[in-house]
Amino acid sequence: MAQRISLTRYLVEQQREEGHIPSQLRLLLEVVARACKSISQAVNKGALGGVLGSADSENVQGEVQKKLDIIANEVLIEANEWGGHLAAMASEEMDSIYLVPNRYPQGEYLLLFDPLDGSSNIDVNVSIGTIFSVLKKPEGSPGVTEQDFLQAGAKQVAAGYCVYGPQTTLVLTVGDGVSMFTLDREQGSFVLTQENVRIPADTKEFAINMSNMRHWDEPVKRYIDECLQGKEGPRGKDFNMRWIASMVADVHRILTRGGVFMYPWDKREPNKPGKLRLMYEANPMSWLVEQAGGAATNGRQRILDIEPGQLHERVSVILGSKNEVDRVTSYHTGV
Ligand code: AHG
Ligand code: MN
Ligand code: MN
Repeated sequence: MAQRISLTRYLVEQQREEGHIPSQLRLLLEVVARACKSISQAVNKGALGGVLGSADSENVQGEVQKKLDIIANEVLIEANEWGGHLAAMASEEMDSIYLVPNRYPQGEYLLLFDPLDGSSNIDVNVSIGTIFSVLKKPEGSPGVTEQDFLQAGAKQVAAGYCVYGPQTTLVLTVGDGVSMFTLDREQGSFVLTQENVRIPADTKEFAINMSNMRHWDEPVKRYIDECLQGKEGPRGKDFNMRWIASMVADVHRILTRGGVFMYPWDKREPNKPGKLRLMYEANPMSWLVEQAGGAATNGRQRILDIEPGQLHERVSVILGSKNEVDRVTSYHTGV
């Protein structure tokens, strides 16, 4: 029987043999994985654990928080604040950055997360997840400020997500391809189940919230319209559609079998660049997708090249199979 490789062993070997990850980063990733295990437990208990439903509060973006949004946020903070690997954290669910308290040693990394992605799916028992991104604190600055977090996605040193679905799967990149780990509940550990994940360049599957169609910009309308025309249209093939409304689950499907995912700018709130958040959702997912051979743009620019202006910045997102993303992007840029 092939030997099972735990996440711990995978990270130790990455550190020892490949030189990809310093020990502080290895510790950080272990701690994030442990926190995800704990969130997974809470998710699994559902109504029995009293974790469903609304928390009757709002986050900085004006969204009503679910109990699990808050629980997952707390689990991630409590797990990460004392280990000495972090300088600060930032979360979709917190107004401003969270500094590691003075009583703990300070590390050199910054951790950003969407603690619970797919909140609208919690109470209906559909896949949800946690998305995370790791940056290095810029050298030379003594304390930590919000400015230190405002780095382009291309500067990430690790990124990943954990999807809580029929299986709990952790997906990770440290810049050397994408690996997937499945949670073995009896053993209590994540086990490597796929290495060198690749997204096929072509696809016949798209993911977009079609109810927003009338609000889309022309290039997005054109792309989807051509897909819908199927064999009889300019694409010459039939397309299938999926929309889970949890970005983690939609991206997981794309990493597994290809596809294109879009949450574009639309006319509902024309002053917002998009719905999804650059630092907690778009950057980590874009890096994973690129590391698997796919592409990610905002229609005009590679997402990983965007210089953020603020922590909770939003962005239009088109990602997945490279040829499709290139096509949608060319419809925007005319090139
Ligand atoms: P979150 O639950 O972290 O706020 O994110 C939800 C996001 C994303 O996961 C998903 O793709 C999208 O919102 C769904 O939006 P619609 O409900 O507009 O389809
Ligand atoms: Mn989200
Ligand atoms: Mn969220």
